[in-house]
Amino acid sequence: MKKKLVILSGAGISQESGLKTFRDMGGLWEQYDVTEVASPEAWQRNPELVLKFYNERRRQLWEAEPNEGHKGIASLEDWFDVEVITQNVDDLHEQAGSSKVLHLHGELRKARSSSDPGLIYTLTHWELNLGDKCAKGSQLRPHIVWFGEMVTEISNAISVAQKADIFVVVGTSLMVYPAASLINYIRPGTPVFVIDPHSPEVFYKEVVYIQEKAGKGVSILKRELEKFK
Ligand code: APR
Repeated sequence: MKKKLVILSGAGISQESGLKTFRDMGGLWEQYDVTEVASPEAWQRNPELVLKFYNERRRQLWEAEPNEGHKGIASLEDWFDVEVITQNVDDLHEQAGSSKVLHLHGELRKARSSSDPGLIYTLTHWELNLGDKCAKGSQLRPHIVWFGEMVTEISNAISVAQKADIFVVVGTSLMVYPAASLINYIRPGTPVFVIDPHSPEVFYKEVVYIQEKAGKGVSILKRELEKFK
């Protein structure tokens, strides 16, 4: 029986694929006011601006490739039962070959009905515009969890974290809840690894900190995990 390896990832793991993070220098929240582009109020007030924000990011995703970090995590499925819990809305983990990916904050390649959240569509083109309607005739919105909206996948993520034999945090500032609380649900004594060029605040006892970008950090992680397989 393979040990359960749980990965909590954030925007940092996609940085080397050319996708911006949120809170680094030059990050998305420096460029855009989050209240203008990523909240239900913003959607009511100015849907075109919200659609433009996500179209911009989706266009970049259309050209992005998974990097060594994503690929290294996918390759760990040879040794472990790997579950990725990601805050990212890109699908680079899936493109790299990860078979179990739980998206806490939604998925950029998907759109959903603004009147029936159960009506979800996979976009074949990077642009989602005003006038693009669901089967029930209401405007399609990005399938993203906006600030102030429920993280409907959090209970699934908590049960995954509780089963972790090894827990890895990669590329997240751990500033946004409830995602950042997941480390509180792992069993005492579970080995924790953190991969990040700048050390995020991790309130946990024994953390092995790999101060590298994801591409290099995951290859170091693999060497460290060899003894656990
Ligand atoms: N490799 C690994 N980590 C990196 C890299 C890299 N190449 N580049 C940056 N980082 C680290 C930064 O040091 C930082 O700790 O990635 C983290 C990025 O943090 P944020 O920009 O805050 O992104 P994230 O933690 O994913 O944000 C969480 O906030 O705005 C919301 O919904 C949005 O999902 C997002 C959530």
